Parts: sequence; C-alpha cells; structure tokens
Amino acid sequence: MTLTPPPATLSRTCLAVVLAAGEGTRMRSGKPKVLHQVAGRSMLGHVLAAVTTAGATAAVAVIGPDRDDVAKETRTILPGARIYVQRDRLGTAHAVLSAREALEERLDDVIIAFADTPLVKAETFATLRAPLAGGAAVVGLGFEARDPTGYGRFITSGDELLAIREHKDASAAERAITLCNGGLMAIRGDLALTLLNKVGNRNAQGEYYLTDIVAIARDLGHRTAFAVVPEQEVHGINDRAQLAAAEGMMQDRLRRAAMMSGVTLVAPETVFLSHDTRLGRDVVVEPHVVFGPGVTVEEGAVVHGFSHLEGARIAAGASVGPFARLRPGASIGPRAKVGNFVEIKNTELGAGAKVSHLTYLGDASVGPEANIGAGAITCNYDGFNKYRTEIGEGAFIGSNSSLVAPVSIGRGAYVGSGSVITENVPDDALGLGRGRQSVKEGWAAGFRERAKAVKKK
Ligand code: UD1
Ligand code: CA
Repeated sequence: MTLTPPPATLSRTCLAVVLAAGEGTRMRSGKPKVLHQVAGRSMLGHVLAAVTTAGATAAVAVIGPDRDDVAKETRTILPGARIYVQRDRLGTAHAVLSAREALEERLDDVIIAFADTPLVKAETFATLRAPLAGGAAVVGLGFEARDPTGYGRFITSGDELLAIREHKDASAAERAITLCNGGLMAIRGDLALTLLNKVGNRNAQGEYYLTDIVAIARDLGHRTAFAVVPEQEVHGINDRAQLAAAEGMMQDRLRRAAMMSGVTLVAPETVFLSHDTRLGRDVVVEPHVVFGPGVTVEEGAVVHGFSHLEGARIAAGASVGPFARLRPGASIGPRAKVGNFVEIKNTELGAGAKVSHLTYLGDASVGPEANIGAGAITCNYDGFNKYRTEIGEGAFIGSNSSLVAPVSIGRGAYVGSGSVITENVPDDALGLGRGRQSVKEGWAAGFRERAKAVKKK
C-alpha cells in the first residue's frame, strides 16, 4: 500500500512514538499483548507499518522492562526504529517522555500511537498530522462512543479541542459527552517537550496523562484541533475477545479491498486473508480458504475451497485445490494444476504441470507440462537433512511412486507406478523400481475349494 500524505505534511519530518509498554494481563498469555497477531502480523507490526506509510521519518517504540521479544519484533518490522524502555508505568505522558532523547531532536511533527490499537489507518495518522503544518500545537483523535465509559472525553468548542477529561476525573456533565478520545495524538515537534514537561500527576489515578497537554497548550495560547474517526478504527485490545473482534474488522477490510480490486470471493466471510496477501485481477477464491502470510496469486488463477496457503506464489491461470496445502516456497507456474489432498513445500511447479491428487512434493522442481500421478511423493528428508528432487519437462511420474532424494528424473522420462526410485532416470527413459508381477492361473478357484473343505469340518 502506498499513500501520499496531505501536501501540507509532505516535506515535514515526523517522529512516531509507539507506546508498547502495556502489561496485557487480561490476555492471560505467556507473550506480551502487542505481539499477538491480527491478520498474520503482530499488533505492533500493524502500527509501525501504518505510521511509516503516513510519512514518519523516524520511529521509536517505548517498551516495558526485559521485553527483548518486543524489541526484536520492532527491529524486524522497522530496522531503523529506536527503542526506549519505560521502567515504571506512570502514565501515557510518562511513557512518551521515556523517548525524551528522540523528542529533543525536534522533528517537525510528533505522532503518538498505541501498539494495542492496531486498526488505525495510515490515512488517519496523516490526517492527524495535517493541522500541525497550519500551526496547531496538538491534534486529538476522537470518536463517537456507543458506550463512553472509561474513555477520556473531548471538551470542544467548534473545531477547537479545549481539553480532554479522563473518565475518572470527569464531572457528571462531562461524563454525558460521547465524543471520546481514541488516544492517538499529533504534537508540534518544537513544542512537544515543553508541553509534556508541564504534565503533572495530581488526578484520580495519580498518573501523568498525555491527554493533559491539550489544556496545557491552550493555556500557553496555542491552537489545538481534532479529527473524528469511526469507533471501529480506534478499537483497543485488552483481552482475547477484543482481539477476535479486531481480527474480524481487519478481515472485513482486507476482503473488501480484494473485491474492490477485482477479485471474486464467493463467500467472503469464510476466506481469511493476511495483511500482505496479494490477489490479482479476476482471481477467484472459493469458500473456506485460509491465506497465511506471504501469498501472491496472479491474474485469473482459481483457489478452490478448503485450501490452506502460506508463503506461496500462484501464477496466472493456475488452479489450486480443493483441499490443497501450499507451504512456504511453493511456486505454482502458469496454468499449472494442483488438485485435492496435495501438499507442496519449497517446490517450483513449471507451466502447465499437473499434480492432481494425493501428493507430497518437498524441495523439488517440476518441469513444464510434467504429470505427477496420484499418491506420488518425494522422500526429501532422512531425519537429518533435506535433499532435492528434479523432475524434467514433460516427465510422467506413475501413481504411488516414491522418489527418494537426491534424485532426478529426466525430460520426457516415465516412472512406473508404485516405484521406489533411488537412482536418476535419464531423459526419455522408463524408471521402474518395484517387484515384478507373477500370475498363477487358476489359483483363486483352487484356494476357494480348499478353504470350503476346511470350513465344513
Ligand atoms: C487512554 C487515554 C484516554 C483514551 C483511551 C483510549 C490517557 C491518559 N488516556 O486511556 O483518554 O480514551 O486511552 O483507549 O492517555 N501506556 C504505556 N505506559 C504507561 C501507560 C500506558 O506505555 O505508563 C500505553 C499502554 O500500553 C497503552 C496506551 O499507553 O498502549 C494507553 O494506556 P491505557 O492505560 O490503556 O490508557 P487508558 O486508560 O485506556
Ligand atoms: Ca486502554
């Protein structure tokens, strides 16, 4: 996805501060909350990607103590990101100030994001930045809450944001307000430290509230602004039920984007996509297909029902499934066919090749127009190492054959059904590796006579 930030923000530098120090105890999990996944990517990953797309020129993550796993994920997604540790959890302003060193660099814009709020769109971060270019000191992100309990309330006047009042500090009249704080903010880089340094902790929770910088900025005579998004977008995650709800919303978004770009999803609610699934025009996806990360399907290919794909490429006009499993490194050539109960891993299938039924191909390359019979498998693993199988163009592998790697089958060669192939088969040869058949005329009739005689006694 590429996005052009609003013209006003184009030439401005921007620091994104992503707060990822959440305890996440309600997840009841051995791993930190922000590493739980939505559409095949961690929540933290979604947020880091969104702020980058929105034009952040520098990014920092604020993490909890001893969270090497969160630091590692941050570096995997954004190698240039800096990491700061918040030792004590003293509130959102305190968390932001853990990145004091980065704030001292005074980039033009600062955006604050929460790593447990993964559905915020890149456009929204860009929208939030825009008023800063016009001189606003702080921009808040609001939403109309169905149930405002627990959220900070927006105290507004026209298009100005006067203050944000945390639920626990709000008067009865303020609690009646339904325009709530989504949590994210944009702050002018030259003012960020000045504003944050003035935040105190004399409030109902004894915390340093980031939200206080709105009133502080106004007291100093600065202008403030706010944007409003649908509640869905600022859906925060504290437990597994909220995680599942986020997954559902993200799936709806991904499915809709796929359909709008010319993909047929016969039953979209049954198809699960990853954040990076790429589906070409006129691709058809039948019901109950799961796309793990890293799948590309090119124009006009069909994925039949109940297939599971991950790390795979399917070229134009190919057909996969029903009940196919493509694992990482599967590359299915143009017009190739992968049928039911076929598993393919780290294997290239040439143009027009067919693997129609009940096959395992691992660490192999299959030439164009080759035909792999039902039940044929590559024996690619000896318990210690993996070995390759090469199958030439137009080769024909008879049903129920085992190809014991490393081994190669030449162009146009045949392998007789039921063979165990341990030696290379040259081009245009026949490879046979099985017991020779013997036929005993009349044996069955004689057997029946003898058997009946035994049974009578
Ligand atoms: C915050 C907002 C509230 C808003 C709500 C939206 C403040 C003071 N309040 O409240 O107005 O309606 O989000 O969901 O900002 N965090 C840290 N370190 C801390 C405290 C928090 O990293 O010391 C991180 C959390 O991991 C989380 C985010 O900041 O990602 C928000 O913190 P949380 O405690 O959930 O704030 P809320 O009380 O929900
Ligand atoms: Ca929260």
